[in-house]
Amino acid sequence: MKIQAIRGVKDILPSEIEKWQWVESKAHYIFERYGFKEIRPPIFEKTKLFSRSIGETTDIVEKEMYTFEDKSGEKVTLRPEGTASVVRAFIEHKMYATQTVQKLYYIGPMFRYERPQAGRFRQFYQIGVEVMGSHHPAVDAEVMIMLMDFFQALGLSGLKLQINSLGCTKCRAGYREILKSSIRNHLSELCGNCNQRYERNPLRVLDCKIESDRKIAADLPIIADHLCDECKSHFNEVLTLLDSAKTQYILDHLLVRGLDYYSHTTFEVTSENLGAQNAICGGGRYNSLVEDFGGPSTPCFGFALGLDRLVSIVPYDKEDNSGKQPDVFIVCLAKEAEILVFKLAHQLRSEGIAVERNYDRGSMKSQMRKANKSNSRFALIIGENEIKTGKYQLKNMRVGEQLEVTANSCAKELKKQLKTKA
Ligand code: HAM
Repeated sequence: MKIQAIRGVKDILPSEIEKWQWVESKAHYIFERYGFKEIRPPIFEKTKLFSRSIGETTDIVEKEMYTFEDKSGEKVTLRPEGTASVVRAFIEHKMYATQTVQKLYYIGPMFRYERPQAGRFRQFYQIGVEVMGSHHPAVDAEVMIMLMDFFQALGLSGLKLQINSLGCTKCRAGYREILKSSIRNHLSELCGNCNQRYERNPLRVLDCKIESDRKIAADLPIIADHLCDECKSHFNEVLTLLDSAKTQYILDHLLVRGLDYYSHTTFEVTSENLGAQNAICGGGRYNSLVEDFGGPSTPCFGFALGLDRLVSIVPYDKEDNSGKQPDVFIVCLAKEAEILVFKLAHQLRSEGIAVERNYDRGSMKSQMRKANKSNSRFALIIGENEIKTGKYQLKNMRVGEQLEVTANSCAKELKKQLKTKA
């Protein structure tokens, strides 16, 4: 019986991993330059952490969580996103006590029971960023600029940064009522989902993907006209700072996001190079979540980007970026050389040289073919004759030149040769 992977989850194979690692290394490099530190929360948590933060009436909590009881009867959930865990960790470890602003990022798998399709998985990967402890508009702008810097460093084009403000709890409550009374006139034309949203979470009507509903949504009152002075001024400052950095954005009054914890600035980045699932990143402010979970008042701003989607559109030149091929491939042609090869491989690796070797003793021709296939820069050939003389052939696989080395001079010579271009 063949057992296959679960629907909607996938293996990231060795042939793809270099690209993933390259993208991740750029994230480490750029985020750390902006003062971010990595955090690694667990991948499962108590269920109520997610239901209370993301929101009981959201799609994620209502339909998409992988929830089960563990052996002690505790209800636990595989994390559908990272923000809730970071907030829990922030409070649990009193991270607010050590520093006024915490800048954190994480990379890892998330789990949502969604209908699988291109770009939508049940286990997918996110890179997330959270700044905790400041309501300054410079935080919103700086984080979005950092994100666009990151995309630029990856050589991406065709991206759109869409941005909106959802106001604070006070101005949003007023807008919610205004919106509800406008939606009321269209209930018979709107889809079943929107009819439900109208009661429980009317702002989500703005976010419906059905074309006829989107047309209706486009004519509904917009939140920008109902922000309080403070929220208006915060948002304007964010936009001014983005302008000052020449970061292009589109104001999108229909952008509300699918998680309940947002307030003030919210944003999404979409790519024209993805199909229907074109959102590559989403985020925004969540100023009351830490307090809601019993922590001190801590305004926050963050985002998460979908790594699977990102990796699928990143232009990546394997030749240019590959540092993963072996430096040397040892071709062993004599049984008596086994121990010698084993020791030599160990010695070279401990000196920082990447070594690959052959494990079965094939002919010279077949072993050289393997050396070629491994993309190794050098082949070290050890046969009966070489054992007798103590001199081995080191062949440069790019230019074909060959020189003699001994067990003692091998590492030094290889290091010297590896520094040259050919
Ligand atoms: P989100 O919009 O739910 O936000 O997810 C962020 C990104 O994760 C999406 O834009 C998308 O690229 C990717 N993504 C989501 N679901 C899937 C899926 N099923 N398959 C593949 N990719 C997916 C959040 O998760 C928030 N925690 C972001 C945040 C952080 N807000 C503040 N801080």
